[in-house]
Amino acid sequence: MHIKRIIGLIVLFIVVYPVISFSEDQNLSVSAAMRKIQDEVRNINKAFKNSDYFTTATHFMELAKWFKSLDSVDPGKGTKAEWDRIHEEIIKEFFIAIGACAVEDDEIISASLKKIMALQKEGHGLFR
Ligand code: HEM
Repeated sequence: MHIKRIIGLIVLFIVVYPVISFSEDQNLSVSAAMRKIQDEVRNINKAFKNSDYFTTATHFMELAKWFKSLDSVDPGKGTKAEWDRIHEEIIKEFFIAIGACAVEDDEIISASLKKIMALQKEGHGLFR
């Protein structure tokens, strides 16, 4: 009788543990991606200040890749539809900024940065 319960608990643990650790890993990867994203934003601000449009555009593309990598994440909070919408909008904004780097248009780049920060605020409000 006891041995059956113990075996039952062991089986339960084997089944449930990977599910728990999977969602923990996903959170860990969002937070790790966010730290890279923060570094990229710093790189952009530095390069943009120096009117280095090539480097600025390169880091906007890195941001686009980081956010794209979060597409498959199902956020614990908020809805997946809102997660997807914000990611789509922010990636579009990076491409607008990259286009603006081609014509060295500081006003458009600044406006993009403002929109990106507004989407960060919205994203953190909903999902963090
Ligand atoms: C350029 C814009 C953004 C920047 C610079 C940024 C930066 C950060 C930073 C520095 C953290 C803390 C990471 C840590 O040390 O754990 C964080 C956490 C987080 N951010 Fe962002 N973020 C941005 C946009 C977004 C957007 C658009 C979303 C969602 C749509 C989002 C969702 C989250 C979530 C869910 C966390 C918590 C992660 C966790 O602790 O598991 N962020 N972000």
